[in-house]
Amino acid sequence: MYKLVQPPLLFESSRPGRATAVLPACDVPERPLDELIPREFLRQEPPPLPELGELDVVRHYTNLSTLNMSIDSNFYPLGSCTMKYNPKRNERMAALPGLWAQHPYQDERTLQGLLAILYDLQEILAEIAGLDAVSLQPAAGAQGELTALLVAARYFRERGESRGQVLIPDSAHGTNPASAHLSGFEAVTIKSDGRGLVDLADFKAKLSDQSAVFMMTNPNTVGLFDPQIREIADLLHAKGGLLYLDGANMNAILGIVRPGDMGVDLMHYNPHKTFSGPHGGGGPGAGPIAVREHLAPYLPAPVVARKAEGEYYLDHDRPHSIGRVRSFFGNTGVLFRAYCYIRSQGPAGLKRIAQHAVLNANYLKALVEDVYPVPYDGPCMHEFVASARAFAKERGVRATDIAKRLLDYNVHAPTIYFPLIIPEALMVEPTETESRETLESFAEILRAIAAENPELLHHAPHSTPISRPDEVRAAKQPVLSWK
Ligand SMILES: Cc1ncc(COP(=O)(O)O)c(C=O)c1O
Repeated sequence: MYKLVQPPLLFESSRPGRATAVLPACDVPERPLDELIPREFLRQEPPPLPELGELDVVRHYTNLSTLNMSIDSNFYPLGSCTMKYNPKRNERMAALPGLWAQHPYQDERTLQGLLAILYDLQEILAEIAGLDAVSLQPAAGAQGELTALLVAARYFRERGESRGQVLIPDSAHGTNPASAHLSGFEAVTIKSDGRGLVDLADFKAKLSDQSAVFMMTNPNTVGLFDPQIREIADLLHAKGGLLYLDGANMNAILGIVRPGDMGVDLMHYNPHKTFSGPHGGGGPGAGPIAVREHLAPYLPAPVVARKAEGEYYLDHDRPHSIGRVRSFFGNTGVLFRAYCYIRSQGPAGLKRIAQHAVLNANYLKALVEDVYPVPYDGPCMHEFVASARAFAKERGVRATDIAKRLLDYNVHAPTIYFPLIIPEALMVEPTETESRETLESFAEILRAIAAENPELLHHAPHSTPISRPDEVRAAKQPVLSWK
């Protein structure tokens, strides 16, 4: 069922001659427009803008702004592509004129404060990772993956090794195999075992002199920490391969364990899942990478560096670098937010974030798992994946029906049908900032939905302006402009 109750567009509400304000006539001589703008750039006709009263415009946009769910207005338990609450102080700090009102073409000597922050952030991210060098350039987690694999490819090329394979667990985020493919490697799938962890036997069977990198997500996308990581690192290193950590789930282990200490050679961060950044959505976010010393020469250029006398500069003199992956210094606005978040938490605060994220996920899991079974035993980390397989079999209610119905209860849906190894997956990540009351109320909603009439669920949501759009068509034929 497709229900569409949308407010009219501003163009449709427009009435000729209606204006937002009638100002007094100008009482100083006006200069002709073509004195200000060269004649060839002047329009012949005024642009066809809608004509409306100011109040109509204010109401239009205010109402539109309430149509979407957001972390600031609703509980948002979206696993994997997590929306953490981003404290407002970080927004304020990133908006300080000393930061945003700068231009990347300015002389570096006038950007010393900004470069000092970026330099500091490189050092902090290296410290949290337990690795040696950082690039802030990548603009999203996925681009961080790609950048790190390009670094690995260059490393092997310079060593005269032609390793062509990247090993990836079947529970990995889809961007992992995509990044492997884009960077010229063949993606080889490693099975998960009955515990939801890397199947060590399959890993050993597929590990060879051709293995360049093993891309491991730990905690993995099933929400489990894989304690085999050290053994995996040792086996891989003995074959000359590199261990990559998809660090998207760092929120669960911040300040508790460092990837470098577990044998990781290179990794990316997802600041939107960890450090108060807006989501990359493939572009306008950040996905910094950290690497071990022997991979540092291949990082994208420039990196922010400091001279012995203390001056900061952009180091372009990096002959082994893979080159640029993003213009200028990366998405600085996102990086400043991450910097402010990390500095305002301090080491103890970061550790508390991880502890609370894990506690919240386990509490919620305990509240619902008798109704929504979680296939793998034991405590989870920052998220858990339940399965609606029994509902689907017994009552014809699928994960998508449950997710859609949650919208009627004013809750954003969890991630569904991912990871692929769990049928009818519902991937729930509450994050650390949610209160006990919110978690309990969400659990009650989930239990209530489990008892509802399947017919009601098949047509949910019933309260939103759009009910069930054709998702495939929306993705293939997006209509993004008013015609
Ligand atoms: C495990 C994992 N890896 C990679 C990514 C890709 O990150 P991004 O969406 O920033 O490109 C995500 C998305 O959040 C993720 O959850």
